Amino acid sequence: MSRAPLPYSQKILDLFRNPKNLGKMEDATVSAVAGNPACGDMITFYLKINDQDVIEKASFESYGCAANIATSSIVTEKVKGMKLEDAWKITWKSIAEEIGGLPAVKFHCGILAVGALRRAIRTYYKNKQATPEWLPKDQTFEEKQALEEEELAKILSKKMKMAEEK
Ligand code: FES
Repeated sequence: MSRAPLPYSQKILDLFRNPKNLGKMEDATVSAVAGNPACGDMITFYLKINDQDVIEKASFESYGCAANIATSSIVTEKVKGMKLEDAWKITWKSIAEEIGGLPAVKFHCGILAVGALRRAIRTYYKNKQATPEWLPKDQTFEEKQALEEEELAKILSKKMKMAEEK
């Protein structure tokens, strides 16, 4: 049975074929993983941050889908040269708009990209043992979603293992 192709925008398809800032960053100040390797939906964000808390460069590795690669690519381009405080304000909705919209079943892919960025920013301040005033104490929607993805993936992989062992 063949499935109908997802209605991806041209921009998503272009970025999927030719993503920007793809790859591990050897001299990253901080990195963060979101998602779970068990289901394949996993991304790592790398940030190089200077003493003024400005992102000098960003890159990512993704084992997610086209939507995840495209949104991660856009996020890494956008945050370059931004102060961490401004990068924190980026929402998955604004990213989705920028790439011409996401199909509803792919919202989580964009949410995961922003979740990974925020997790990297939190990790940076945790390592520094400093918490700026603008950083919310509680996890934001994107961060929670990234966590839920991981929990869901863990449950699925457990179920798959149990089914294999039967
Ligand atoms: S990253 Fe999970 S389907 Fe896109």
